Amino acid sequence: MHIHRYERWWMAFGITMLVAFLAIIAVAAVADNINPPGGMQQVDPAKVASTPPFDHPGLRRLAEGKYEAYYVVQVFSFTPAAVTVPLGSTVTFYVTSPDVVHGFFIAGTDVNMMVIPGWVNMQTHTFKKRGTYLLLCHEYCGIGHQNMFAKIEIR
Ligand code: CUA
Repeated sequence: MHIHRYERWWMAFGITMLVAFLAIIAVAAVADNINPPGGMQQVDPAKVASTPPFDHPGLRRLAEGKYEAYYVVQVFSFTPAAVTVPLGSTVTFYVTSPDVVHGFFIAGTDVNMMVIPGWVNMQTHTFKKRGTYLLLCHEYCGIGHQNMFAKIEIR
């Protein structure tokens, strides 16, 4: 079979790029230890509802202006659906999913996580503006994806 010279060059170029990209991913995973954010904490997705602290999702006050918020994110809701914290509070969000991959994005902030079954992701944010923040799922997760939201009230 005759393969045109330019065709061969393009095939060689494509294969070289493929090998280069796979090598970059392998180096990043092994040498740079790139993993899901959030301290690598794991949780059995089938037992989220009975595993502390996710058996009682919600807001915990640690000190003046310091909070932890535990969220169970599943088709098609966030639990808790609404929380209220005082202006200036620092909140660390811990999120996990018992079913499929979801998103955890608080509009107007840099809080932006994937919620991955089996893993606990976390991110901390200090709320410096009063108002109602919209918490959105921004990973397509099924037919109710577009209805998946919650609220964070800053007073
Ligand atoms: Cu959950 Cu999209």
